[in-house]
Amino acid sequence: MCLSWESRQSMEVLISAERIRERVDAMGAEIAADYVGRPLVVVGVLTGCLVFLADLIRRLNHPTQIALIQASSYRGTATTPGELIVKGEMLPDLHGRHLLILDDILDTGQTITKLVEYLSTRGAASVRTCVLLQKIGRQQVEFQADYVGFAIPDKFVVGYGLDFNDEFRHLPFIAVLPDSAS
Ligand code: IMP
Ligand code: MG
Repeated sequence: MCLSWESRQSMEVLISAERIRERVDAMGAEIAADYVGRPLVVVGVLTGCLVFLADLIRRLNHPTQIALIQASSYRGTATTPGELIVKGEMLPDLHGRHLLILDDILDTGQTITKLVEYLSTRGAASVRTCVLLQKIGRQQVEFQADYVGFAIPDKFVVGYGLDFNDEFRHLPFIAVLPDSAS
């Protein structure tokens, strides 16, 4: 995809790096308090989780291990989901562990619902969910994440790990993708 330099410069910042930092701090404290006495396995959903995961685990003053899983449904277009493919080959033994699934965004809810189902069959002691963003008015399945960073309007967003065609993940803030790009 070719987005001109001018378009990149004029991206509308929806959530600044500063606001993300403050919110991730608060989420880390809340999660650590909820899991006292229970070591955690944070299961990050590749690839969008990576920036959020790296920041959150450093705010968790808590015994924590990291696992990664891949679930992809978006193939090239901003709004049309394809079939969801789950790849769990990288997961360690999760028997008896307390899992916190970490994803970048809850949109229709299909991905996280499927991942909870998938991980619940692996003998974990508990499975909870944490998303940085939740889009208002897009959910197709009834699902409430246990921890939500920010509720956002129904716009396609990029940055802080979120991509469009694998671009923009490196932006330190969350921005709205310009219409011209999708
Ligand atoms: P869901 O299954 O519809 O809830 O979609 C979740 C996945 O879709 C996320 O993990 C993202 O990879 C992708 N996604 C949904 N909305 C956006 C967006 O606004 N920007 C970037 N990726 C998105
Ligand atoms: Mg994703």
